[in-house]
Parts: sequence; C-alpha cells; structure tokens
Amino acid sequence: MDSILVTGNGPLNGEIPIAGAKNACLTLMPATLLSEEPLTLTNAPRLSDIRTMTTLLQSLGAEVSSLQDGKVLAMSSHDLTSHKADYDIVRKMRASILVLGPMLARDGQAVVSLPGGCAIGARPVDLHLTALEALGAEMELKDGYVHAKAPGGLKGGIIEFPFVSVGATENALMAATLAKGTTVIRTAAREPEIVDLADCLRAMGAQIEGDGTSEITIQGVDRLHGATHPVVTDRIELGTYMLAPAICGGEVELLGGRIDLLQAFIEKLDAAGVHVQETPRGLKVAQRNGRVNAVDVVTEPFPGFPTDLQAQMMALMCTANGVSVLEEKIFENRFMHAPELIRMGAQIDVHGGTATVTGVERLKGAPVMATDLRASVSLILAGLAAGGETVVSRVYHLDRGYEHVVSKLSGVGAKIERIKGQ
Ligand code: UD1
Repeated sequence: MDSILVTGNGPLNGEIPIAGAKNACLTLMPATLLSEEPLTLTNAPRLSDIRTMTTLLQSLGAEVSSLQDGKVLAMSSHDLTSHKADYDIVRKMRASILVLGPMLARDGQAVVSLPGGCAIGARPVDLHLTALEALGAEMELKDGYVHAKAPGGLKGGIIEFPFVSVGATENALMAATLAKGTTVIRTAAREPEIVDLADCLRAMGAQIEGDGTSEITIQGVDRLHGATHPVVTDRIELGTYMLAPAICGGEVELLGGRIDLLQAFIEKLDAAGVHVQETPRGLKVAQRNGRVNAVDVVTEPFPGFPTDLQAQMMALMCTANGVSVLEEKIFENRFMHAPELIRMGAQIDVHGGTATVTGVERLKGAPVMATDLRASVSLILAGLAAGGETVVSRVYHLDRGYEHVVSKLSGVGAKIERIKGQ
C-alpha cells in the first residue's frame, strides 16, 4: 500500500488550482438516471470516489465516459438494465445511496444496499427513506437491502426533516423533480452542493425554487431532458489548501476560490491572524507573522463551519498561540486524527464531541496513519509544519477526495512525495 512522505519545511509560495467538488459531483452523477437524454458534467474532479460512482451507474445500465483526462463526464441513461445497487459497490461509498431517489422517480422501483458497515444505526439513512415515503414510496428492509417501490409513480408531498441532512435533501430533491404535483422540503440543507444540484436539474428542465434556503419547493414535471453542467468548486479542497500557507507561512493563491463558499471558515482564519484576500483568479492566503492565534470552532451545517474542515483546522491549532476548543456537532466520533496528531507532539484532550488543543511551538515528524479522508489530509498539513519526516500511510483514503495532492503541494514548494508500497 502506498504512503506519503512529508518533510517539514519553510514557507510555501505559488498557486494551486482547485478542482470541481467531489461531493457535488457525487450527487450530480446520479441525476443522469432521471433522464433518457445525455447529461454531461464539466470540471469533474479525478478521484477514486468518482470512479466508484461510475462503476455503480454502469451496473445500472448507464453509459459513462470519462473525457479530457477525466475532467468531463459524459453520461447517458437511455435504458436502465438493472434497478439494484449491489452491496459490493455500495459498501465502498456511502454516497451510493443517492441513486435511490432518481431510480424510484424514473421507474418506480429501486433496490439499494444499505451503505457500508452501517445498518440503521450510526450514520443511518433513515431520513432518506422517510423523505421518499413522504412522496408515496413503499419501503421494505430485507437482507441488508432497501427495497423501494412506487407503482403509480411518486407524488408531491411535504418533507419535514427533523435536522439537516445533505444527502437526504439531495435524494428528496432529485426524486421530487419527477413526482406528480408540488413537493416542499423543510429544514433542507443549504450547502453550495445543493444549489449546484438544483442548477443542474433546472438545466434539465426541473422546476425548483428556494435552494440555498431551508425551504425548497419543487413542481414536478413529466420528463427531464439532457444538459451540460459545470461542477461547482470544491470548497473543502479549497479550505484544505488555504490552511497550507496558514500552517507553514508564505503566500499561496487558490485558483477558482470563492469567499461565499467558505465564509464561516474564512472568518476563523481572519481571527487566527491569517490574511485572506480576493483576487481576479480566486483567493490569496498570506501568513507572515509566525504562529497563528488560537480560535474556537463549532462545526455546523452550511453556512456554519464545515465538519469536513475540522480535522485540518485542528492541525493548524496544534501550533497556534494559546488554547482552542473544537466542537464537532455533525458526526460523533470524528476525532480519529487527534491520537495521531498527539504522536507528532500535539497537546489535545478529547472529551465526547469536544477537543481542547493547546498549541505547541513545533510538531515533530512521525509515522502516522489515518482512518478517513479528511483526517489523512490533516496529517499531511501537520507534517508540513513539523520538524523532520512524517510518513502518512493508508493513502487510499486521500485518493478518494484529493486529486494530485502531491503535485499540487510540491508545486508551491512543499517537500512531499508518494512512496509506492509493495
Ligand atoms: C455529506 C458529505 C460529507 C459531509 C456531510 C456533512 C457527500 C458525499 N458527503 O454527507 O462529506 O461531511 O455531508 O456536511 O456529500 N443522518 C441521519 N440519518 C440520515 C442521514 C443522516 O441520522 O438518514 C445524520 C448523520 O449521521 C450525521 C448528520 O445526519 O450525523 C448529517 O449527515 P448528512 O448531512 O446526511 O451527511 P452526508 O450527506 O452523508
């Protein structure tokens, strides 16, 4: 298995291009199932999660071609040859559940494995299922699969989520585009990826209002047509690379970056003493004052501070001046990076959903291992700021969500290389 070797070094300078959003692309791709006509996505990221979704869609009968070195995905779902999303694919990626709403809306039937390792327990999909039930679907859980039916087609309804779920909002939104009548989604997620999905669905002929607010109204239509849609910028990749100069010092321009995608995160960087400025090509981040100030962070649904940047922010706080408190409110047990950062000399106390970080002058390189995507990249950031060498193993997590991480960081002067495993 490959690993990544990072050697702590000085300031970073230059520019990093930001890719299209993984999480947007993973919900835009299943939208192809809603129409018999082609859907083309441009600005797609080159990631293993995208390849997993490609395999899943192909297993249902969709044609998916990766063009221009993977930056364009040309999809066509003229006929669905299967309505079953198999465990072997779904277990690799939770976002596979996003094929449920579109298949049900188009053909009134779908069988989807429950996502990997999680029965209806931790990280459940209950909100996805109750939302589709509100549109008239009948659900049965059998042998680890959700069997969904809507023999007479879906019907518009009121969906009232008890709390915000990005994926459940996306499934409901896609399904409602072809449901008869009007659907109202309350306590809808407001993430930029939801707005991007709604933009794409509108380009396909859907009638949607209110995306980007907590109440979305959809007027069902009989059919959707083909479209070409550019995937929105990846705000999590953007935030991750904004933290690289914040941790190491220097000045880096993030091409394609936008303040509106990361307002709450940028406010925290500002409070930490990191300078962020808009440029004609994106955002520029400069850090010239030595150690940053400690800031407290609470993760929340958009427009709050994203949970997907919590691990990376913790890496920055490890060498901040003072004590910071990071509170994780979206996922329980999302501090798996803390023990690894501690191995690098960080001072972190975790109690339930709260981590208290006392900044130290310098971290020390160490062999570390990450158990998820964002945790992996937080260890790379920490390695950039540490003295000596850090080896991050299990990099397949990184390949799920960061394209060309080594060349993007070495392009701004980081000492980082991928080491091939046996
Ligand atoms: C998406 C993102 C993920 C991000 C998360 C929160 C994708 C592919 N992934 O994940 O990177 O960290 O949003 O911003 O877009 N929940 C339930 N029942 C459900 C669904 C969710 O209880 O049916 C809970 C989850 O366990 C979690 C919370 O709701 O505690 C929010 O999860 P959700 O917004 O659904 O996350 P995902 O869509 O899976």
